[in-house]
Amino acid sequence: MLEQQKLRLESRGRRLRRTDAIRRILNETRLHTDMLVAPVFVIEGTGLVEDVEGMPGVSRYTVDRLPAYLERLTGLGIRSVLLFGVPAAKDDSGTGAYSKDGVIPRAIRSLRSSFQELVIMADVCLCEYTSHGHCGVLSGKIVDNDRTLPLLARAALEYAKAGADVVAPSAMMDGQVLAIRAGLEEAGLDDTIVMGYSAKHASAFYKPFRSAAGSAPSFGDRRSYQMQPENVREAMREIEQDVKEGADIVMVKPALAYLDVISRARKRFDLPLAAYNVSGEYSMVKAAAQNGWLDEKAAVQEILTGIRRAGSDLIITYFAEEAARWLKEGW
Ligand code: PBG
Repeated sequence: MLEQQKLRLESRGRRLRRTDAIRRILNETRLHTDMLVAPVFVIEGTGLVEDVEGMPGVSRYTVDRLPAYLERLTGLGIRSVLLFGVPAAKDDSGTGAYSKDGVIPRAIRSLRSSFQELVIMADVCLCEYTSHGHCGVLSGKIVDNDRTLPLLARAALEYAKAGADVVAPSAMMDGQVLAIRAGLEEAGLDDTIVMGYSAKHASAFYKPFRSAAGSAPSFGDRRSYQMQPENVREAMREIEQDVKEGADIVMVKPALAYLDVISRARKRFDLPLAAYNVSGEYSMVKAAAQNGWLDEKAAVQEILTGIRRAGSDLIITYFAEEAARWLKEGW
């Protein structure tokens, strides 16, 4: 009895939870709008803002409609966006990804001129631009790693020349960071930041993105280039390789089923670490919230806090705008 009383006195965790103010001063993990990156889908044409199937609250914008949207995001304090292009025409080699007047270079030039402070990130991949929907060019039915590298390097160079601060290769081709870094340096673009999608897993949670970007593979899947979800040691090797190749920022993707990967990466590498809270992770919460099964605001706070607590510096999330609004209100 005495023993038990002593134990109770020594371990009153509830003392630290009594009031909101006490809880707030002892908060170990704080979210800030500065760490949020908003993904933005850019489509061809003019005057269009289209809803994305399966992602309520997310739209695709033509270049002329971007500034108004960006005013809204930056007005809430969001400092960076990650651009994805949806071209009007696709071909075998994904030409739209690396043509100077492709949808992304045009979007970057437009945003660069009106939003000087904005950190503009551009996704570098071929899947949105290829008729077959794979992230690289094909040799037969095989995604040809080494023939894809120069195309990714060209795309990154076009985006950097257009004014992107960050280029982010997501194709999971071996050597993509090195190819891009070499291309940038050769062109004298030493200041462009390369953010590798270093540990990108083959995930069921990309499905809504693929309808937004029109990038679902027309045959097979991406498991010969994206990582298998089971492997965390391999994820560390992928990150290490990107660091060696010259990445400035590394990434783990998706976030929620991979919090241990984020945590391991945080402990092991000193580079800035990004986590991608992907489309399916967004859609799950939206669907449940729309049915009244979840309190969206509370759920999003908990999710983003979890990703942050696991150790990521940047969080790429479709909740960026809403989260920024909630953060402004004090959450
Ligand atoms: C392109 C790319 C994908 C995502 C980001 N870049 C799709 C894929 O690999 O199929 C997914 C993002 C998301 O689901 O939000 N390679």
